[in-house]
Amino acid sequence: MRGLRIRLTCLLGIAAICGCVSAAGARKTPQIQTLPSLREQAKVIDGWTEERLELIPGLLRKYGVDAWLMSQREYAEDTVFWALKEATQSSARRRTTMLFVADPPGSYTWIDNTKQVWADLRELFAERRPETVALNTHSEIAFSGGLHAGEFEAIVEGLGEEWTGTFVLEPMLGVEVVATMVGSRLEWYMKMQETAWAIIAEAFSEKVIVPGKSSSWDVEWWMRERIQSLNYTTWFQPGVFILTGEGFPAVTSDDPRGDDPRAPNRPIRYGDLIHTDFGVTALGLNTDTQHLGYVLYPGETEEDVPKGMIDGLKKVNRLQDIVRENMKIGVTGNVILKAALAQMHDEGIEGKIYCHPTGEWGHSAGTVIGMSNLQKNVPVLGDLPLLKNTYYSIELFAEHFVPERNMTIKFAQEEDVYWDDETSSWEWVYGRQEELLLIRTPAEDASQGPAEL
Ligand SMILES: *[C@@H]1O[C@H](CO)[C@@H](O)[C@H](O)[C@H]1NC(C)=O
Ligand SMILES: *[C@@H]1O[C@H](CO)[C@@H](O)[C@H](O)[C@H]1NC(C)=O
Repeated sequence: MRGLRIRLTCLLGIAAICGCVSAAGARKTPQIQTLPSLREQAKVIDGWTEERLELIPGLLRKYGVDAWLMSQREYAEDTVFWALKEATQSSARRRTTMLFVADPPGSYTWIDNTKQVWADLRELFAERRPETVALNTHSEIAFSGGLHAGEFEAIVEGLGEEWTGTFVLEPMLGVEVVATMVGSRLEWYMKMQETAWAIIAEAFSEKVIVPGKSSSWDVEWWMRERIQSLNYTTWFQPGVFILTGEGFPAVTSDDPRGDDPRAPNRPIRYGDLIHTDFGVTALGLNTDTQHLGYVLYPGETEEDVPKGMIDGLKKVNRLQDIVRENMKIGVTGNVILKAALAQMHDEGIEGKIYCHPTGEWGHSAGTVIGMSNLQKNVPVLGDLPLLKNTYYSIELFAEHFVPERNMTIKFAQEEDVYWDDETSSWEWVYGRQEELLLIRTPAEDASQGPAEL
């Protein structure tokens, strides 16, 4: 009871301070979700891995393969190794060789540095007589191309001619094993997503941004430190951009991002529309989120946000729905891309679509729906079928002319979705941004800043 009362008080306190309850009704305020102890985390992750391993024989049958052989050495691991290892394993050891068999289902692991593993494998093959043995030798897809060239030579030599004729390539095997997000992962994925939203909300607030002083890079590094303080990590440097920023190309910063036109080398100012691309990593999962914020002038409230900016966000929200509706299971990413772009243009929207699987990796296994430089067709990856029971990042932008700034702005958003078998649709993992985050300054602070701000 006591805990509950404290939490309620906090929530009301936060809502009162930052005005997170809108006129339309209570809006949820994302909260930081702290991680369990490392020991508990390992238990949770191993539970998920166990469920994933159980899927493998069924997938071998689905793709008509009798056995799947993966072999690697310490620090030269197959990409799939990371999805199957125990939580306390930091790398493969010696030569780590894994064999999965479809029927009757079986799995075998050797950790060895002698030739015994090959003798054991030959004996096993002689007994089970697999007609097709899949190897991860794809030349384009990372998740089915993780067999190192030298290791392939070792396999060929170790197994001999009798078995090399059984070797096949089935790209969907590695892809589907890595892509499949067992249901028990979702609870933590939602918590991680909420944490990502909470960090962004904190970063894009007057707590962190001081208009006229804070630069994009100050905010990015604040986000990095904040993630670290929570014992989470990230899979890419957070990006913070000023979408209304002039400043390019007159940039003289020695910062490596100093020539990025989206992050001009000047402080964030009143009236700026700002954008972040942000992901957190924990428990072997990764999130990917892009949100927008607006810096109010001193004394302004949400009523004062330029209407053009609100309309831009609405437009990109509509584009999110178009993509989500077109994401039909079993259809290729390229077909979905074409249909979604056609509908986008029919509805009078200009923009770009570049969605990718996420979860196990930031850019995870599965088909992609466009890439920022490929809006007609994505070779190889775009031709894979869309799988269910996985997570996707709906990543895109819609262009919108903002009359108040006399400029066309790319309203970019990114939100993660998961496949919900009950509703047979893609659902937001935490939600999607429908209101701009606001950076507020009390009216009396106006006199303190330089006049041009
Ligand atoms: C981060 O980990 C440290 C060391 O285990 C722990 O003391 C601290 O409470 C953790 N912080 C959070 C926010 O979970
Ligand atoms: C708006 O921008 C265009 C081109 O960028 C310029 O020609 C025009 O004068 C601007 N209009 C106003 C009202 O500033």
